[in-house]
Amino acid sequence: MLPKIISKKTIKFLATLAVAVSATAVASAEDARGKQLYTNCLACHGPDGYGNQLLNAPAIAGLSEKYIVNQLQKFHDGIRGGDVRDAAGLQMRPMAMTVPTEEDKTAVAKYVASLPVKKQEKTLEGGDPEKGKILYTTCAACHGQSAEGNDLMNSPSLQGQHDWYLASQLKHFKEGIRGANPQDISGAQMRPMAMMLTDEQAIKDVIAYIESLSE
Ligand code: HEC
Ligand code: HEC
Repeated sequence: MLPKIISKKTIKFLATLAVAVSATAVASAEDARGKQLYTNCLACHGPDGYGNQLLNAPAIAGLSEKYIVNQLQKFHDGIRGGDVRDAAGLQMRPMAMTVPTEEDKTAVAKYVASLPVKKQEKTLEGGDPEKGKILYTTCAACHGQSAEGNDLMNSPSLQGQHDWYLASQLKHFKEGIRGANPQDISGAQMRPMAMMLTDEQAIKDVIAYIESLSE
């Protein structure tokens, strides 16, 4: 028999509290794990996740968790970064092996997604943002009006990304260095879009507009 002073209601309340406390403990253990796993990424992507041009490493801060997990899986399986012409992708591939499990990928992705986005320095000259704005109307359907990305379309945010990286990826999609693997479903969605950018100037123009969207 329970002493009268501890009612059934109290027990129910204490049980709920215990569940809530352990859920918080699990969440903070995952946060700590994500931060710890990120030490494998620091050397190239930097402590703030802003990347490093000398190492061809893009900004990854603030990308969505879903997009990061997908890309890590693709690098892991060689669906991205598996082409011999893809020097930068080949550098990233072994790094995805440092987070082999689903749990590790999710934990590090959560950490990276939580890092604040920052506008990056301009390195490309000669792009016309007015012309780029017209080209970008097609892109907006998936990447959003402000290039904020859309998880439902598997489309990453392009905000706070380096102009040189955007240019390299558009060229890689065009040339079939990225997005051409038959298992790369979301890459296949993007490839024909890059084909629409018929020359170097169109690539520079659309990037000049995209860069004007990040403040
Ligand atoms: C040796 C340097 C290096 C290390 C260490 C490294 N990366 Fe990378 N990472 C790269 C390069 C280079 C690219 C660009 C590949 C390309 O151009 O396709 C990249 C690309 C990425 C991308 C794709 C970004 C996008 O916008 O599509 C993600 C996500 C990523 N890295 C996450 C990580 C994580 C998480 C870690 C740690 C587990 C890590 N990287 C460690 C060099 C590195
Ligand atoms: C039909 C939807 C769709 C449209 C329209 C589209 N994209 Fe994409 N884009 C995607 C998807 C999906 C990905 C991610 C591919 C992957 O998973 O590797 C992507 C990836 C990219 C990347 C690589 C970003 C990174 O972080 O690595 C760039 C750059 C890009 N798109 C630019 C553009 C531009 C510029 C346009 C307009 C000319 C455009 N996209 C139109 C769906 C689209």
